[in-house]
Amino acid sequence: MTNSHESDGASSLPTGLRMWPFKRYAEMHRRSLEDPNGFWAEQARKLDWYKTWDRVLDWNPPYARWFVGGKLNACYQCVDRHVKTWRRSKVAIYWEGENGETRVLSYSTLFRDVNRYASALQQIGVKKGDRIALYLPMIPELPVFMLACARIGAVHTVIFSGFGAQAMCDRIEDTKAKVIITSDGGYRRGKIVPLKEIADEAAKQCSTVEKILVVKRTGHQVPMTEGRDVWLSSLLDEAEVLIKPEPLESTHPLYILYTSGTTGKPKGVVHSTGGYLVFNHSAYEWVFDIKEESVYWCTADVGWVTGHSSIVYAPLSHGAAIVLYEGAPDYPTVDRWWDIVEKYGVSIFYTSPTAVRLFMRYGPEGPQKHDLSSLELLGSVGEPINPEAWQWYYKYIGRERCPIVDTWWQTETGGIMISPTPGIEPIPLKPGSATFPLPGIDAAVVDSDGKETAAGQTGYLIIRKPWPGLLLDVYGNPQRYKEAYWSRFPGSYYTGDFAMRDEDGYFWLLGRADEVLKVAGHRIGTAELESAAISHPAVAEAAVASKPDPLKGEAIVLFVTLKKDVSPSPDLRKKIAEHLRRVIGPIATPDEVYFVDSLPKTRSGKIMRRVIKAVAQGKSLGDLTTIEDETSVEDVKRAYESLRKISDPDKGA
Ligand code: WTA
Repeated sequence: MTNSHESDGASSLPTGLRMWPFKRYAEMHRRSLEDPNGFWAEQARKLDWYKTWDRVLDWNPPYARWFVGGKLNACYQCVDRHVKTWRRSKVAIYWEGENGETRVLSYSTLFRDVNRYASALQQIGVKKGDRIALYLPMIPELPVFMLACARIGAVHTVIFSGFGAQAMCDRIEDTKAKVIITSDGGYRRGKIVPLKEIADEAAKQCSTVEKILVVKRTGHQVPMTEGRDVWLSSLLDEAEVLIKPEPLESTHPLYILYTSGTTGKPKGVVHSTGGYLVFNHSAYEWVFDIKEESVYWCTADVGWVTGHSSIVYAPLSHGAAIVLYEGAPDYPTVDRWWDIVEKYGVSIFYTSPTAVRLFMRYGPEGPQKHDLSSLELLGSVGEPINPEAWQWYYKYIGRERCPIVDTWWQTETGGIMISPTPGIEPIPLKPGSATFPLPGIDAAVVDSDGKETAAGQTGYLIIRKPWPGLLLDVYGNPQRYKEAYWSRFPGSYYTGDFAMRDEDGYFWLLGRADEVLKVAGHRIGTAELESAAISHPAVAEAAVASKPDPLKGEAIVLFVTLKKDVSPSPDLRKKIAEHLRRVIGPIATPDEVYFVDSLPKTRSGKIMRRVIKAVAQGKSLGDLTTIEDETSVEDVKRAYESLRKISDPDKGA
């Protein structure tokens, strides 16, 4: 029994869990944890290196450096490699504009573009190591510029085009980017989003910005500042057709991407070139079972990590044909996405639970109008998928033929960590469970003392061994890197998520354990929202909690106290909501704003989060035995009762 237990790869299962019946996967997982260096070296050999690494891993906790001494180039992996083969005539990107335009880029046209764009970057003085801010809509120029940066060793930082000027400015200031690449606008629900104007506003406050490179998308007039702003088209006239990809150290940063944490300031997650690519290349194959003839569509925005890894770097490193869609999912009609699936013969479709719930709400008629028989595999990412949404997705989109890969990962993990792996072996799925960790991933669920929990018990998700996709650092803030990920459970990476394993060992991801919200799959910190709220001139103090939302997963509830002499009014409520929207972006719009006389605080002045949360969610306070040290149970109860009185949003006004 002991032996078969071992050979089934169940050695990493806590006691009391059943063995995994999946031989191929279990064997691979076991081998990967027994000999991680050998395992990852084998994976790394699937990429093209200018120079092979000297050491697979330098692990100086909590820093992991992979394939040390090796040299490669991400743009080369994603483009040049393919144009040397028959894939030069294969479709790389099917682009669909919101207004119905289409553009098709083959790998050879992509090659031409990455070279010319890299030359344009060089013309404006961009060099290896420079940070470049990309603030673009979902147009082919966005991935092309990412790859062009990678080609010359510049470090891109993509800023989601739904963010406002302040959010943009914070990110630019932090990276000290000297170039912004934007466009005259982007289309969203038929309207033009004025990206250039927002970039101008951000640049006004950012001293580092020397150049703004502008892509023409909408063709409408935008202000151009003499000497600073330049149209891409004017640089392309002079562009060279061949820019040699720079052989870069495996540990050279490929990009910085900001994500929310528990403080008001977002974290600049830095990813490497070698480790990141090896991890994503492998994970993509295992999870999506990618084939040469696949047509793959990930509906995420490139502004999030899903777009970086699962639209750009992983699929293109495989020479896959991808779909890129510019606009809103239900515009101009609610069957727009299904029309796109049919039009391009999409075989692998990867989206978020929020999107699935949106379509559930519209009903099955939309997808039923279309021939979705090209679909073979469905994916879900970004938030827990509720079993009801899973079933709907399975039935009406996959027509009960397509497995669903529920993929758990994070900006910091670089790529998919826990997911079914049909590319290794199909395993029985359970709706709502992301199933098992990928090979090389040593995931565990532990209690607050770091002890593995028993089957069915909720705990914290940790990763016990470094993996190649692990972030290099938090940009400019190593202290935060250590504190956020490595101090809670010493020696292990802390994910900040609650999880549970069932008696079969399946992982169930249960949402964030920290003060980070997931609104429509977008990650946003309560502290970030609070600091944006108090930047409104009428607001004295702010506290944010979320409440469950049937569509978005979580909705934002904001409690504010007002400055002296300011009176609450419905109009002020709207203005505060509008302020958050402008400062951070539409995803930060609170669903409810309450005016309160005071916020419940502990004696040392910390906001009583649990009270705020219980009131926002209309719940009772629950068990008070673990109440914080200096706060009495009575204080908490009193605060709760006084806050609960304002349950009607208009009462406070
Ligand atoms: C959540 C997105 C449940 C989780 C790729 C994580 C999920 C956070 C899943 C990271 C999933 C992501 N099931 N929860 N399949 N995927 N999450 O950095 O809370 O935007 O910590 O990366 O999303 O969000 P991020």
